[in-house]
Amino acid sequence: MKTKILVCGAGGFIGGHLVSKFLNDKNKELICVDIKPFEYWFQKYENTKNFCLDLKDYNNALKVTEGVDYVFNFACNMGGMGFIENNKAECMLSVLVNTNLLRASVKHKCKKFFFSSSACVYNASKQKDTFVEGLKEEDAYPADPEDGYGWEKLFSERMCRHFSEDFGLETRVVRYHNIFGPLGTFDGGREKAPAALCRKIIYAKKNNQKIIDVWGDGEQTRSFLFIDDCIDGTLKVFNSKESEVFNIGSEEQVSINQMIELIEEIANYKVEKNYQLNKPKGVRGRSSDNSLVNKKVKWKPNLTLKEGLTKTYTWIEKQINSGSNIEKFCQSNIEK
Ligand code: GDD
Repeated sequence: MKTKILVCGAGGFIGGHLVSKFLNDKNKELICVDIKPFEYWFQKYENTKNFCLDLKDYNNALKVTEGVDYVFNFACNMGGMGFIENNKAECMLSVLVNTNLLRASVKHKCKKFFFSSSACVYNASKQKDTFVEGLKEEDAYPADPEDGYGWEKLFSERMCRHFSEDFGLETRVVRYHNIFGPLGTFDGGREKAPAALCRKIIYAKKNNQKIIDVWGDGEQTRSFLFIDDCIDGTLKVFNSKESEVFNIGSEEQVSINQMIELIEEIANYKVEKNYQLNKPKGVRGRSSDNSLVNKKVKWKPNLTLKEGLTKTYTWIEKQINSGSNIEKFCQSNIEK
């Protein structure tokens, strides 16, 4: 008997990479779901069962979970700061997806449920300075997460915990810290800083421009995790016996200006920066503390930021140079 795995949000960035990782395993049957029409999926495969469905509808959640062993939920309405700061209600509506999937998983006696949470759950007071100490899992409480998106993630984390306690559904939850890499959004409004800044420098170099727009003063700090490390961490947590919430992030904290310097080296092109102080900036400083996940699950990232950015830059440059349609499917896709 094959193991039946449901990947929700399979047309998105992380979901798509997970499906691609599972593809060669002949013992797995993959069911892929996304709200986006198929032509907008980042990755779509022939030998998986693919559904374009809105999981905010409970009946759809019931339909796709039937007979499933493992559920991975990446489905949510999200993006970088430019998106989440301006679409708080849309982000919070993702709570319906996770609620429906949890209920349906209990009903169909699924064996394990994975929820993708975010570093946006962390208490704002711990992120007020640049180059902050890495955030430990316990720093999510007392609760003061990112408005909208962060509250939804924190609430859904707790719902997983209580579904586990009250209904015996085994759950795994991780908090992703700014995941980036090829086959992700790089234009259209949902892109995060690594892809956005690669894109801006690629365009500047192509068009011989000297100046790029940078949101904020460039001194704000973050850590960024490459997608391959994210998938590795996700599977290590999922397959472990540990059921607490874990960070999946990098501890290599840089300022946005430092990341731009790395991209300049990769591009072999120098730019001047036009700092846009009225654009969405988010917290002042954020990074991951991986001690817990390292100790309990034996996971840590392998790639440096520069190695990950090199792969990402190369991929985005290829998309731009080939005039690929990918920019189109990166466009915002919100139903009203
Ligand atoms: N998106 C973007 N685009 N950000 C820029 C740009 C740009 O052109 N220029 C500078 N920045 C700055 C932002 O102002 C922000 O201070 C920083 O780069 C990081 O922005 P993002 O990558 O968009 O988001 P974030 O790190 O604040 O939050 C993201 O990561 C969280 C997990 O750590 C979001 O994607 C959240 O949805 C996610 O939960």
